Amino acid sequence: MNMPSTKIPSLILGIETSCDDTCAAIVRNGHHVLSNIIASQQNLALGGVVPEVAARDHLQKISQVVMLALSDAKVSFQEIDAIAVTNRPGLASALLVGVAFAKALAFALHIPLIGVHHIEGHIFASRLENPDIPLPYVCLTVSGGHTLLMLVQGHFQYQILGQTTDDAAGEAFDKVARTLGLTFPGGPAIAKLAAQNLHEPIVFPLPMMYSGDENFSFSGIKTAVRYYWESLSQEQKACQLTAIAAGFQQSVVKVLVEKTWRMVQQYNARAVVITGGVAANQELRHQMLCKAQSSAVSVFFPSLPLCTDNAAMIAGLAFYKLQQTCCSDLNLGIQSNVVCKTIVKNGL
Ligand code: KG4
Ligand code: ZN
Repeated sequence: MNMPSTKIPSLILGIETSCDDTCAAIVRNGHHVLSNIIASQQNLALGGVVPEVAARDHLQKISQVVMLALSDAKVSFQEIDAIAVTNRPGLASALLVGVAFAKALAFALHIPLIGVHHIEGHIFASRLENPDIPLPYVCLTVSGGHTLLMLVQGHFQYQILGQTTDDAAGEAFDKVARTLGLTFPGGPAIAKLAAQNLHEPIVFPLPMMYSGDENFSFSGIKTAVRYYWESLSQEQKACQLTAIAAGFQQSVVKVLVEKTWRMVQQYNARAVVITGGVAANQELRHQMLCKAQSSAVSVFFPSLPLCTDNAAMIAGLAFYKLQQTCCSDLNLGIQSNVVCKTIVKNGL
């Protein structure tokens, strides 16, 4: 590939187009975010992400988003040392736009290209702002596409402890929101209604709470909410909307917190990290902090703009990948569904 220069690459342009957000960021030395542009798509009318529509939207926006990232950071193309891009996992057509754009730029500028794993980017998002998270830590990644519980024993050494057997936590928020007639993405819409609730939350099941393993399942609770909703009259629906949102959120949060905490205790972890879009949920943040209150375990969440998809986490992680000489070449491809191995060493 374009020969890495002798200078340590410190100024990295990150590009992220794995789902519906078109993102570009400039990060210096892995931790100093100079710009972080996120252009979200308007999927409200579609009720979710349509891959074909998302890809076309990325294509229209990517140049502008990258130019904005450069101007916000007050740097020129010539000053960029390397380009990092999410190349796995994600929607194939959406990933292709970012990867093709990044390859062309790396070729034109004669600088290194680094393909980055989206989930590893989410995990790094916490470390971006807190470089000294004590090891070992338990990391819960909860997004629209993934629910992964991991033990992190060394930076870039991940052991997968559990994952969802069906819907991801964010996906359940999105699908329940659609049932309740709320806007997309569903997580913020449900969280907002739950915060307004003045009644007893409706009780929903605690999926796989006592399954004896560390996996999750959110498809059953989504169906339970739908059946409950469909059994109500219009008047009851209006009266109970906030209590249903609060009950659903409560069940999901309880399972996530309990199962994560069991792993913290089992592995004597010194910290717990919650990352991904659902980590923006205030109830999840509150309950996890309460759990850790009387212990020596530190809790880390990325700041809100770094919870959901962003390119700063991709550029930050790439700084370390480059030091491990994890450089890609112009044959860099995409992998839409990367199978999660049981034990993953030295990066996902
Ligand atoms: O990480 P992310 O931006 O994209 C994926 O990699 O999937 O996560 C998006 C997911 C969506 O399912 C969205 O509903 C959920 O994160 N989300 C939330 C909140 N904000 C975003 N879920 C619960 N509460 C929130 N406040
Ligand atoms: Zn994500």
